[in-house]
Amino acid sequence: DKGGHKHFMSKEIAEQPRVIGEAVRHYLSDDGNAVALPGDLDFTQIDRMTMVACGTAYYACLTAKYWFEQLAQMPVEVDIASEFRYREPPIPARTVALFVSQSGETADTLAALRYCDGKADKILSVVNVPESSIARESDLALPILAGAEIGVASTKAFTCQLTVLLMMALKAAEQRGTLTPERLSDLLSALRALPNTLNTALEQDGNIANAARKLSEASDVLFLGRGLMYPLALEGALKLKEISYIHAEAYASGELKHGPIALIDKHLPVVVMAPRDGLFDKTVSNMQEVLARGGKVMLVTDAEGTVEAAGDAWQTITLPAIDPVLSPILYAVPAQLLAYHTAVAKGTDVDQPRNLAKSVTVE
Ligand code: M6R
Repeated sequence: DKGGHKHFMSKEIAEQPRVIGEAVRHYLSDDGNAVALPGDLDFTQIDRMTMVACGTAYYACLTAKYWFEQLAQMPVEVDIASEFRYREPPIPARTVALFVSQSGETADTLAALRYCDGKADKILSVVNVPESSIARESDLALPILAGAEIGVASTKAFTCQLTVLLMMALKAAEQRGTLTPERLSDLLSALRALPNTLNTALEQDGNIANAARKLSEASDVLFLGRGLMYPLALEGALKLKEISYIHAEAYASGELKHGPIALIDKHLPVVVMAPRDGLFDKTVSNMQEVLARGGKVMLVTDAEGTVEAAGDAWQTITLPAIDPVLSPILYAVPAQLLAYHTAVAKGTDVDQPRNLAKSVTVE
């Protein structure tokens, strides 16, 4: 049942405020003032984490690396499951291995989990299907509570994965004493406010559809972002490739002049993900480099960023302001809608894109 939507993907995008609200409530204490995780996870007994996943779930892990490192001072390594399992990396003592998978049945991720069994101190998973193989074979499986995801392109599972991973990082920060109680409480308030913030972002649907119609004429698109916006840029490019079949690539903004700048011309739209955070000026200076070479910039930012930097942009998508720590969850919405409307404009099969399966159970 598409609930009145034309595609499961658009229904699942629209469900995000509700399912994320439920996930946030599920992992908060009864009084709502602390993160409460199941099990007896003690992040003070852990020196490092290794996170392993595929596709969109891998980008959720890349985002979580920034959170665990910056908020909890916890070193994190992130790997693509198909590389990890055959590289057979050493797993040092006091390492937790964390596997993220919507289906919980991805063959490479499951094989990577089995490789860590008996080597890592603990095996954790963040899954959408609680009775899946990955969940069953973990010491502790944290459900993301996204509900069934039918569209092949992952949308609400991604943002629910991010939500749960952020809450884990906040728990780690609390246990390790790396954030002040005030900062922790601000971040929990921002999490509780997230459904409203996401609803405001969804109101940009019409603007994004207009932008997407123009994007649908491109044959290549470049996504740029820094910090937490870098993994999100990767996810935006993957989403666009999967369902619109437009070639898209993502780079960390700082890498632009190390190669991809050679591609810039008037035919290459560049989507710049740039909330008005501590890295904004740096990202904007990369955006200026694109504009100076005749590139077309689609700027995704907030109201302040729009005032400061949208002047020469080809298109601008303005989102509500948010604590920069939570920005990947919010900025996922325009990335998804952009891919969705581009695919609709091109007339591709949005929910069942060619050559793709929802669950990749063979390697
Ligand atoms: O079920 P999983 O989360 O393990 O799946 C991982 C990837 O196959 C999946 O995220 C894939 O990249 C999606 N089609 C992305 O939209």
